[in-house]
Amino acid sequence: MGSKREAIFRFMFWVSVGTGVPVEGNMCLKPEFYQNMRIGEKLLEEPMAFYQAGGLLDCYRQCGFYSLCQSCNYDVKTHQCELLASNNTITEQVVNNIIMDVPNRHGQLFGSCKNHLCPNNTVCRVEGPNHSCVVVGCHGNPDIQNVNITSFDAKPLWLVNETVMYACEAGYYPSLDATCSRNGTWSPFQCIPFTGCEKRSVCGGNATAEGEFWIFVVKMDSWVKTYCLSGNNGEHVTLHDINTFSTPIFVKHPTTCVQVQKDPVLTDMGYTAFQKVRVTFSKERIDGDRFRYSNSNFNKQNFGSAGDCVDNDVNDTDSDCGLIGRFVINTNGTGLRIKSSVTWETWGVGGRVGNITRSQDGHRIEGYCGSVVGCGGCRPTELLIELDPNYKPPLDSAAIFQCKTLGNSN
Ligand SMILES: *[C@@H]1O[C@H](CO)[C@@H](O)[C@H](O)[C@H]1NC(C)=O
Ligand SMILES: *[C@@H]1O[C@H](CO)[C@@H](O)[C@H](O)[C@H]1NC(C)=O
Ligand SMILES: *[C@@H]1O[C@H](CO)[C@@H](O)[C@H](O)[C@H]1NC(C)=O
Ligand SMILES: *[C@@H]1O[C@H](CO)[C@@H](O)[C@H](O)[C@H]1NC(C)=O
Ligand SMILES: *[C@@H]1O[C@H](CO)[C@@H](O)[C@H](O)[C@H]1NC(C)=O
Ligand SMILES: *[C@@H]1O[C@H](CO)[C@@H](O)[C@H](O)[C@H]1NC(C)=O
Ligand SMILES: *[C@@H]1O[C@H](CO)[C@@H](O)[C@H](O)[C@H]1NC(C)=O
Ligand SMILES: *[C@@H]1O[C@H](CO)[C@@H](O)[C@H](O)[C@H]1NC(C)=O
Ligand SMILES: *[C@@H]1O[C@H](CO)[C@@H](O)[C@H](O)[C@H]1NC(C)=O
Ligand SMILES: *[C@@H]1O[C@H](CO)[C@@H](O)[C@H](O)[C@H]1NC(C)=O
Repeated sequence: MGSKREAIFRFMFWVSVGTGVPVEGNMCLKPEFYQNMRIGEKLLEEPMAFYQAGGLLDCYRQCGFYSLCQSCNYDVKTHQCELLASNNTITEQVVNNIIMDVPNRHGQLFGSCKNHLCPNNTVCRVEGPNHSCVVVGCHGNPDIQNVNITSFDAKPLWLVNETVMYACEAGYYPSLDATCSRNGTWSPFQCIPFTGCEKRSVCGGNATAEGEFWIFVVKMDSWVKTYCLSGNNGEHVTLHDINTFSTPIFVKHPTTCVQVQKDPVLTDMGYTAFQKVRVTFSKERIDGDRFRYSNSNFNKQNFGSAGDCVDNDVNDTDSDCGLIGRFVINTNGTGLRIKSSVTWETWGVGGRVGNITRSQDGHRIEGYCGSVVGCGGCRPTELLIELDPNYKPPLDSAAIFQCKTLGNSN
């Protein structure tokens, strides 16, 4: 018990040296004041503010001035006063520290700030018989859509000029950094969705990461799983099934329909399989003539196209042979599909659009096209795409961009 007594003795000493504070009225300390004190302990919490105190009571008093302050750590050696917004009970043993809980502002100690009702982001200031509330920072969440509430709640009090990291939810970036302004309000930022792979650079990222990401497509009012390349090389969509397009390397005899391989092949002939397609989301369109993620034999075939050739050395009247150019589009698993309004037009000489069949769910479109007199076939007028109403890829199958602050992505 000797050490306890010694601690109390030391404490009384500190109180007596700590009262060098201008305080009006009766300075008698009520018993509750001692009850609210833990000697030799320190609260382990991020302080909302620091204050160089004149003494123990000054620290206590300062805490009372801060609307949000509930307790403080006072270092008896350095007189450093840490103001805390909660009286959480996690503490550690620290010889030279005293915890003081400040549950109310009843005491004479607070002068004209006694029982003050200053707003949460202010400090009460004694001005003779009156008091004023001085803004010291920002408190709480801005009333803005898609802010990351967790980030704002990370601190009870954000000091003026402090910037909140990850101010917007994943998938969004702030139009300007969320910074606490002098008047105690947040800078007037908005949370803007990432609408393209290149938007990564607004948060200072060098946009080198390549892979699947969720991109907000304004026209579809939805998040779409998108393949982003390093740099600003546009958006792609990864295909999961076979997507092939052909103008076979054979010529059909116009009357016997016998197919003879052409060597060398004609300029239209070839086969292409796509693994990813380039998309222009602002036009809700697949760009069928971009071949970065495709393999071809002979000449490249545009996405959506097919054709064939009739041996027109033999005859120049229309042939009745079947069309052997074939295309297969399959957007199954992408979350997108070709709009049902898309139509096919002819290309080349004697081009014909044969039978085109579309699966019930709209994922798969297969067609036969070709020519009746030369080299020709069909191609889509415009490959418009829409959201697949029945399928969305799993959330974890693509990453979500996060913006720490403008000029800093993570
Ligand atoms: C902490 O604060 C709450 C509410 O302000 C109060 O009910 C509680 O008694 C306090 N705890 C301590 C240890 O002071
Ligand atoms: C002030 O902060 C406290 C604690 O966070 C909260 O309970 C109270 O609702 C806040 N008051 C206002 C006006 O925001
Ligand atoms: C205190 O407030 C009262 C009424 O609001 C005002 O008349 C008086 O001048 C103020 N006193 C000081 C010292 O500001
Ligand atoms: C906040 O930043 C502005 C501009 O940089 C500066 O003038 C001002 O003194 C700062 N205020 C505080 C409280 O740090
Ligand atoms: C909010 O930001 C924190 C980091 O401050 C992050 O861990 C968390 O995932 C974010 N929450 C959302 C919904 O974006
Ligand atoms: C507070 O300051 C910000 C930024 O300086 C400004 O946009 C806003 O209008 C101010 N609000 C008030 C209520 O003065
Ligand atoms: C860009 O990102 C790559 C990989 O994420 C990294 O290796 C490289 O150092 C970064 N470059 C710059 C200039 O930040
Ligand atoms: C050309 O085709 C027509 C009918 O398709 C046929 O009657 C005619 O004999 C053919 N001519 C030659 C030279 O093959
Ligand atoms: C479509 O036409 C091709 C060639 O003309 C034929 O082989 C195929 O069976 C036809 N498919 C359907 C579903 O009619
Ligand atoms: C789409 O994929 C699912 C599962 O992989 C499969 O069950 C379904 O038959 C596919 N539909 C088409 C049209 O390929």
